[in-house]
Amino acid sequence: MKNLIVANWKLNPSTQKEAKALFQAVKKKAKVKNVEVVICPPFAWLAEGRRQAAEGGFILGAQNCFFEEKGAFTGEISVLMLKDLKIDYVILGHSERRKYFNETDEIVNKKIKKVLSANLKPILCIGETDEERQAGKKSEVLEKQITGGLKGVLRENAKTVVIAYEPVWAIGTGNNCSVDETMSSVLFIRKIISKIYNREIADNMRILYGGSVKSENSGSYIKDAGANGLLVGGASLNAEEFIKIVKSAE
Ligand code: PGA
Repeated sequence: MKNLIVANWKLNPSTQKEAKALFQAVKKKAKVKNVEVVICPPFAWLAEGRRQAAEGGFILGAQNCFFEEKGAFTGEISVLMLKDLKIDYVILGHSERRKYFNETDEIVNKKIKKVLSANLKPILCIGETDEERQAGKKSEVLEKQITGGLKGVLRENAKTVVIAYEPVWAIGTGNNCSVDETMSSVLFIRKIISKIYNREIADNMRILYGGSVKSENSGSYIKDAGANGLLVGGASLNAEEFIKIVKSAE
């Protein structure tokens, strides 16, 4: 199983020129043995990303998509459009979507099913807030987000799902989760997946860590915490730093 390093550019950069330069800088050096590199730019830069990805070096992903395929849904983007752009992965249920756009587990579940029906690979983001963690509710929250997000997803489709464990308190704070705590969360996530599906699917599912990943801490999540890759936000906007992270997953 290849390690998966996913760049989540969020609402950056602001110009096509900058996006193009960032794609180019990453592309040149992102080919690393045993690592799959996925870049998820904002929708506006997907077409530029498609041109660049065609030359190799990285795979293209999206940060979200809607659960209807077409029609009167102003401002949305569909799986058919993503498929036409040859997108492979779609991030779904990111905590920023849950927080600022009121995405519930039910909405995330509809999106996951739609993405799977188009043969794209969903990256289901889950993670507890600081409050939930302090209240000892982490396991409960993770279980609810996993079972809710994957409700009705068949075993054969579950194989293509990637889970990103991103503690909300660790995102964009510089306060990354410790290796020990990440390891126990990754094990817990596999236990839940095993309960829903079976041991084989749980063992083979790619589980990523995300939250203030930098080149100084990235390697340890893969070497010591049992994660199969990383979801990188802020640090993915700096090509040099991002490449270091990719290399740490070799
Ligand atoms: P961060 O973001 O690396 O900036 O903490 C991670 C994410 O939100 O996916």
